[in-house]
Amino acid sequence: MKIRFTLNGEEKEIEAASDRRVVDLLREDLRLTGTKEACGTGECGACTILVDGMARLSCLMLAIQLEGRSITTIEGVGSMEALHPVQEAFVEKGAVQCGFCTPGMVLASMDFLREHPAPTREEIRKGLAGNLCRCTGYQKIVDAVEAAASHLGGKDTP
Ligand code: FES
Ligand code: FES
Repeated sequence: MKIRFTLNGEEKEIEAASDRRVVDLLREDLRLTGTKEACGTGECGACTILVDGMARLSCLMLAIQLEGRSITTIEGVGSMEALHPVQEAFVEKGAVQCGFCTPGMVLASMDFLREHPAPTREEIRKGLAGNLCRCTGYQKIVDAVEAAASHLGGKDTP
């Protein structure tokens, strides 16, 4: 079936089976490999994307659910010349080690900060509890999200 949606600001019309998983569609069909897959069962957050600005797990979404939506993957966030404030804070605070969890973590943080512009450290921990990281011990990720909140100063994350 034909599916129409916006992907990182561009209108798309693609042909896909309605039950194709969005993570496969992004990684295999559209070659957007910044979206990662680990558990494949909704438990790790590696496959997080934004759907109409809200963090969603692409391993649990089907292609048909993209119809009419606006999708943001990590490829649509910031650029090499100008990182998004959340990306910048992850770099500045050393919150990236192997990097596998980072795309999902950044996108989940953007959604979290939209809803919680001035979060406490505890709120950050709870807000990102669905995104697992094997490397950092989470402390630096919390530092990064706290710093991003202060850089953004309550402004919405693009
Ligand atoms: S791969 Fe989707 S939540 Fe783990
Ligand atoms: S930086 Fe390696 S899993 Fe998070």
